[in-house]
Amino acid sequence: MTSSPHTGFGIDFGGTGCKGAPVDLDKGAFAAERVRVKTPANSSPDIIAGLFADLVAQFPDSTCPIGVTVPGIVRNGVVSSAANIDKSWIGTDADALFTEALKRDVHVVNDADAAGLAEVRYGAARGQQGLVIVTTLGTGIGSALIYDGTLVPNSELGHLHLQGHGAAEKWAANSVRQAEDLSWKEWAHRLSVYYQTLEALFSPELFVVGGGISKESADFLPLLEIATPIVPATLRNQAGIIGAALYANR
Ligand code: BGC
Repeated sequence: MTSSPHTGFGIDFGGTGCKGAPVDLDKGAFAAERVRVKTPANSSPDIIAGLFADLVAQFPDSTCPIGVTVPGIVRNGVVSSAANIDKSWIGTDADALFTEALKRDVHVVNDADAAGLAEVRYGAARGQQGLVIVTTLGTGIGSALIYDGTLVPNSELGHLHLQGHGAAEKWAANSVRQAEDLSWKEWAHRLSVYYQTLEALFSPELFVVGGGISKESADFLPLLEIATPIVPATLRNQAGIIGAALYANR
């Protein structure tokens, strides 16, 4: 793979795995097979930086800027929250750390924001005007607010408090469904409460549901009691990598 202005490179930093691939930015698709490495138990910034350097070294022809997702708030390259990752990320200038470790121009973006950018450009919300809310249902709940194609970053709607239930992601994330062995119906009830709250606050045109569980959307999306159209993400677990590549080459 040779780098062209239309080829990016994205890395998705997840709780269980870190995945990277060159991305064809015209098509919004991987330009070569993705590489996946297990996220180590100690996921501190230095260890992850070393891991990413090894991952990127597997693509010696790639020279473009690199986008990296982080499951936390990112402002000007600095991570300022770490709900589901090592707390030592808080305050880390991840742009600077990765740029130094990878010897490449690196730009860090919140994981859900990356997925949102990808879905709006190439996926389920392509061409959608007005407000789109992309949510990722995984260990936590991530969110991206995109208005007429423009991202409002770091919305963190997984931490919204639902009356009587506390933080949404501690009650309605996919990890909670698994831990409490909820039926689709029971989980759909919790998701309905969550999405109804988002509807009342934001009046979006469309919800997009991402995260690994989106491939089973037929089991729970039809059970949701909400008025706003809601569709599964089409880029599935590729959205983070593709969105990160897009972000770094914007
Ligand atoms: C984090 C978000 C992230 C989401 C999904 C939340 O706990 O605060 O930044 O987007 O999990 O990973």
